[in-house]
Amino acid sequence: MYGPNDVPQPIPYQGSKRRIAPTILQYLPARMSRFVEPFAGSAALSIMVAARRCADGFWINDAHSPLIRLWREIIHRPGEIADRYAHLWNDQLGREREYFDEVRRRFNGRHDPADFLYLLARCVKASIRYNANGEFNNTPDNRRKGARPSEMRRRISHASHLLRGRTQLTSWDYKDVLKDCAKDDLIYMDPPYRGVCGNRDQRYLPKVDHDEFCGRLSDLNDRNIMFAVSYDGRTGTKTYGEPLPDRLNLTQLEVHAGRSTQATLLGRSDVTYESLYLSSALALSLKRAGQANESRRIRQPGSHFTEMNSYIGLFHRFLQPHPQTSADG
Ligand SMILES: C[S@@+](CC[C@H](N)C(=O)[O-])C[C@H]1O[C@@H](n2cnc3c(N)ncnc32)[C@H](O)[C@@H]1O
Repeated sequence: MYGPNDVPQPIPYQGSKRRIAPTILQYLPARMSRFVEPFAGSAALSIMVAARRCADGFWINDAHSPLIRLWREIIHRPGEIADRYAHLWNDQLGREREYFDEVRRRFNGRHDPADFLYLLARCVKASIRYNANGEFNNTPDNRRKGARPSEMRRRISHASHLLRGRTQLTSWDYKDVLKDCAKDDLIYMDPPYRGVCGNRDQRYLPKVDHDEFCGRLSDLNDRNIMFAVSYDGRTGTKTYGEPLPDRLNLTQLEVHAGRSTQATLLGRSDVTYESLYLSSALALSLKRAGQANESRRIRQPGSHFTEMNSYIGLFHRFLQPHPQTSADG
């Protein structure tokens, strides 16, 4: 049997929220009817929520359709996709460089999910990059062969076990997903706005425009639907992305997202913080459920970021542990 800390990640993905998923989870309700990820990518949050048994159903959406086709195989035909990955992995041995090019050429012709999984497992920084013609053009990381077939099989079968029978999969534009969401959904959004998905060409995807995105969030507020958004952030004193505006009445938190490798190489130790915004409906629900008490300090629109780090610490302390996470030790 799998434990709540055994969180499989079958799809290697640059920009994955895997490392900070446990922190984000603390700001979500302990019980959710449906957990919706309109910008799912490797769906790190959905997998974490499923492993901790916090939601009854899931909706994994990403406008990039090869990714959703891969998710479909992983969830519904785990044995077949694991076999096909094993075949590609073994077949490459001894000629890894040329083999990658062959698979990439084939993938650009017919977008086969197993080829896509192999490319993601082998390419530099697991980054999806396309050229202006819509062809996948990332190169292999020659130091890595990709996860071993036995390990990949374990991750795939566990992810399938967690999500099968309770997950809807679509490759829609996020706006259509938001339109279809209902009042008892919890929506977690991690849009590509700040370019953290790598320097990839996004022309093959519907654009995520900041103002339009804010308009959609305002609409969710009007419909009283709970949501959380990962958006802007900072590394040391350098900020990236545009903050979400005060008029949306969001609670803004900063999440410690690790040290910048670039800064470490330069002998500095800059820490990256990512903003996590909670809708007022979500903040209220956490308060009602006793997951945060009255005296917690939440940054309300218009206040300052001063002492944000200690405030995050305080917020954490005031949250009651989830029943599922209390077993973590
Ligand atoms: C930052 S990544 C999400 C990473 C994800 N949180 C994870 O843990 O792997 C953003 C994702 O949004 C998708 N995307 C970009 N534009 C989109 C749109 N208009 N509608 C839906 N998805 C979109 C991209 O394909 C990408 O996978």
